[in-house]
Amino acid sequence: MQARALAAEVLTEILSNRQTLTAALPARLENLSNKQDRAFVQELCYGVMRWYFRLSAVLTSMMNRELKPKHTDIKVLLMIGLYQYEYLHIPEHAIVSATVSACDDLHKPWAKKLVNALLRRYQRERGPLLEQLSRDISIQQSHPDWLIRELQNDYPQQWPQILMANNQRPPMFLRINQRLTTRTGYLDKLTRENMAADDTAWSTVGIKLAQPVAVEFLPGFLDGLVSVQDLAAQLATALLEPATGHRILDACAAPGGKLAHLLETVNGLCDVVAVELVPARMQKLKQTLDRLRLQVKIVEGDAQTPETWWDGEQFDRILLDAPCSASGVIRRHPDIKILRRKEDLAVITRTQMNLLGALWPLLKPGGKLLYSTCSVLNCENDLQINEFITTHHDARPATIPDRWGQATKFGRQILPGQEDMDGFYYARLEKV
Ligand SMILES: C[S@@+](CC[C@H](N)C(=O)[O-])C[C@H]1O[C@@H](n2cnc3c(N)ncnc32)[C@H](O)[C@@H]1O
Repeated sequence: MQARALAAEVLTEILSNRQTLTAALPARLENLSNKQDRAFVQELCYGVMRWYFRLSAVLTSMMNRELKPKHTDIKVLLMIGLYQYEYLHIPEHAIVSATVSACDDLHKPWAKKLVNALLRRYQRERGPLLEQLSRDISIQQSHPDWLIRELQNDYPQQWPQILMANNQRPPMFLRINQRLTTRTGYLDKLTRENMAADDTAWSTVGIKLAQPVAVEFLPGFLDGLVSVQDLAAQLATALLEPATGHRILDACAAPGGKLAHLLETVNGLCDVVAVELVPARMQKLKQTLDRLRLQVKIVEGDAQTPETWWDGEQFDRILLDAPCSASGVIRRHPDIKILRRKEDLAVITRTQMNLLGALWPLLKPGGKLLYSTCSVLNCENDLQINEFITTHHDARPATIPDRWGQATKFGRQILPGQEDMDGFYYARLEKV
């Protein structure tokens, strides 16, 4: 099967079965032996998701009626065609012929005439068509209306920058394993492999690669020398202020990036408990710990019901890296714009509040809870902390004196792209 047809199948799975890109893409890529083909399918899938609302509006404006849901594969194949015109340097005749012939791979030869006609029409009418559509901000910046409204409400000045940052390709950050190497030592290894890279400002173990690469090309990855982790996520360990001898709970642990960083940083942390609800995610957590040769007590369970797994001994530190809308990491997961719905926010925020309420009694007096999300929405961040401290009088927000991101009433917010980082929120609560 050729690359365009394979990409159409992946995108159909996302749109029709609400699969995520991260779940749908890797298995399909395994069917391709050629590295360049794999990169091309990935480019098409991420690109079409990133520009979905725009490409979909172009198609709608050119078609008299929508294709039936059973022909979603042809709809996305047309989007793949448009995406190549707009965002890739491929000769126009090659775009048409390769995209049209993908209809055979999808077992829909009847669609060849339609795909050919629409792509050729787009070639002719592209200028005025885009001009007319780009007056609508949702189409121009390819975001759902509900999310634009949320961002406008929460960031009256900054929302246009957030939309633009969400459409950028993210940089690749690494976190060196300070138990096994040093940052300078690892930077030397990268130089020897001709991979340009730099150290990061806010994390002493962070490295930014000039060009993203597949992890198998990172020197020593399988031996645990290094992990892939956005710089914003690397801030968690220092904020938690862990110390040798502390009893620490990571309540929502998979895939284990922050947990591993914590264990790599502090010596003598022998009483760490990591909880994860979702079995498939638990597997990812185990893989992370195995690769980095780290050991902790892991519990497959629901952090909202500690009575099912907690031994009754309180913790000095709790990390609540809460499940969230992931609105801060859209540049890495553009399918969020399509899969996430406004209605989800009520469920997500209720879970976050339940988690805070359920975990608070597990914290020692004088202990600290770090609450974080990879979201930029106030309803998941400061508003949650506000509600929590008004109902829990032994909870006091502890300021974060750092200078990254921007201060909020109770914590700090990083907007996507700010200092190259993902959108993230951190707040610290102290138990008095
Ligand atoms: C934001 S991710 C955590 C990322 C992780 N801290 C890291 O740095 O790699 C949130 C995780 O919480 C898990 N989760 C969601 N609800 C949960 C619950 N009620 N109890 C425990 N884990 C939960 C999700 O499956 C997901 O793996």
